Amino acid sequence: MVSELAKPVFFVGFMGAGKTSVARKLARTCGIASVDMDTYLERREGKRVRELFAEAGEDAFRAIETDVLRELAEKEPLLVSCGGGAVLRPENRAILAERGYVVYLQVTADEAASRISDVSTRPLFRDLDTARATIEARLPLYEDVADAVVDTSGKSVAAIAREVRGVL
Ligand code: S3P
Repeated sequence: MVSELAKPVFFVGFMGAGKTSVARKLARTCGIASVDMDTYLERREGKRVRELFAEAGEDAFRAIETDVLRELAEKEPLLVSCGGGAVLRPENRAILAERGYVVYLQVTADEAASRISDVSTRPLFRDLDTARATIEARLPLYEDVADAVVDTSGKSVAAIAREVRGVL
């Protein structure tokens, strides 16, 4: 068994980086459960992410996200695909850094746009220029929490998952 799987593995990175697909793929090969933070959050709250953004606003969504992260950080072993903005709050970055092994999946805005089939589920994915600016603004936050960085450009889910396995 690979060593880092003794604690939860958190996948961070921008929307469309492949966090959920890679976590699912690895879950199958490693025999460990994977959880998508947004899906978990939606079940817990009984609402879709886009509804929470529209009805309660981003700050309220971020507060729920912190609660969910705390809950998931208690579970191990587990592969967790985090929402793209999970690194924004300092308390979240502390949870990620202290409780888990963090893999940052890097993606460009163009590639992210080509991978996201339905932007209506992502209230913060507006257009390419905004996505580029957001990725740039978040880069130091992703790098701050990352134990490992994997560039996903032009790679299949299987290839990314193989690379991630190599760093666990
Ligand atoms: C967000 C990313 C989304 C979701 C929400 C906000 C962000 O998750 O949490 O729409 O701020 O980047 P994915 O990265 O899983 O799409």
